[in-house]
Amino acid sequence: MLDAFDSGWVAPLGPHVDAFEREFAHTVGVPHAVALSSGTAALHLGLHILGIGRGDVVLTSTMTFAATANAISYVGATPVFVDVSPHTWNLDPDLLEQALARRARLGTQAAAVLAVDLYGQCADYTRITEICARFGVPLVEDAAEALGASYGDAKAGSFGEWAAFSFNGNKIITTSGGGMLVSHRQDIVDRARHLASQARDPAPHYQHSEIGYNYRLSNLLAAIGRGQLRSLPLKLARRRAVNERYRLSLSELGGLHFLPEAAYGRSNHWLTCITVDPGVFGASPEEIRLELEAHDIESRPLWKPMHLQPVFSGCEIVGGSIAEDLFARGLCLPSGSTLAPPRQARIVELVASKHASAPRFRRAIA
Ligand SMILES: Cc1ncc(COP(=O)(O)O)c(C=O)c1O
Repeated sequence: MLDAFDSGWVAPLGPHVDAFEREFAHTVGVPHAVALSSGTAALHLGLHILGIGRGDVVLTSTMTFAATANAISYVGATPVFVDVSPHTWNLDPDLLEQALARRARLGTQAAAVLAVDLYGQCADYTRITEICARFGVPLVEDAAEALGASYGDAKAGSFGEWAAFSFNGNKIITTSGGGMLVSHRQDIVDRARHLASQARDPAPHYQHSEIGYNYRLSNLLAAIGRGQLRSLPLKLARRRAVNERYRLSLSELGGLHFLPEAAYGRSNHWLTCITVDPGVFGASPEEIRLELEAHDIESRPLWKPMHLQPVFSGCEIVGGSIAEDLFARGLCLPSGSTLAPPRQARIVELVASKHASAPRFRRAIA
C-alpha cells in the first residue's frame, strides 16, 4: 500500500490493479480477471455482458444475499427463485431441472442460471452444469462468499461463463470494498474492463459510444487485496479450525446441527452456520442470538430467503419450504479468521448455556 502511495498511482488503475488481477486469476485457476469496485458491480456487468435485459428471466437460489437478485433487477430482468437442497443449502439441482424443463415446454426459457456458493460452499456443479448445458441455458456463478473453496479439483469461481467475487469488509479477504469478475473467456473480461471504465473509446479525446459505469477498483485497494491474497491459505486454515472447534464442542448437544459440508468439495467455512430445533435444544436460534448479544457477541440469522423479501414478493418461487425452514431455524456463529480459541470457548459456553441440559449440568458441577 505504501508502494502504491509512493509511486503516485492513487487512481482507479495502476500496477497493483494489474498484479492483483493476475494473482487472483491464478488463485482461482481461471485465465482472466478484472478488479471492480464491488461484487455487486461484477454481477451487474457479468449479466449485462451476456446480453441479459428487459423481458428476460434469470433463475437463482432463493437462499442468498440481496445483491444476487438486485443485480438481476439492475439489467431489467426478472429473478425466479429456486429452493435449496437441505444437504448443501445451495440451489437444488432437481428443482432447477424441473423449472428449466417446464420453461422449455412453455417456450419461456430462462436467459441464465445464476448459482450461488452459499456461506463458502460450492453448489453442485457437476449436476448444475449438465442440466444447464442440456437446456442450452448459460450458467454463471456468484462466488462472492466462496474464495478458496473447491469442488472436486476445481476452485470456486471456475464454473460457468463467469464468476463474481466480493472483497466486502466481512469476506474472507477484503479490500474494505471491492470485487472481481473472472472468466475463462477473455472477451467477457475485456468487455467488463471497458464498461467499468465509463466505456471510454480508445481515442485521445473523451469519446463514448455506449453507456459505461464507474466500477473500477483503485490501485490502493488492489494493493491491500494483494496483501490479503498472500495470507489466504492462513485465513482458510483458521476458518476451518474455527469450524472444527465449534463442531467438536457443540455437536453433542441434541437439537443443534451444522451446515453439512458436501463430499464433493471443500468449503472455505466463510461462516459457521447451525440450525437449531427448539423443541429438542430447549431454546430458539433467536434466544441464542440474544444471549450472545447480551454478552456483546454478534451472531446473525441466516440470509432471509429472497422470495420472502418484500421487494421480491411478486417474483416466482420454485419450492421454497427448505429455505423457509433454514431461515426459521438457522444462525451464523462468529467465524472470523482472528477468532481466538479462548473467545470461541466463551461463545460455545454461552450457546451451550441455552441448551435444555444446561441446568442439569450446572447442578452436577455445583
Ligand atoms: C452471495 C453474495 N453475492 C453478492 C455479494 C455482493 O458483494 P459486494 O458487497 O462486494 O457488492 C455478497 C456480499 O456482500 C454476497 O454475499
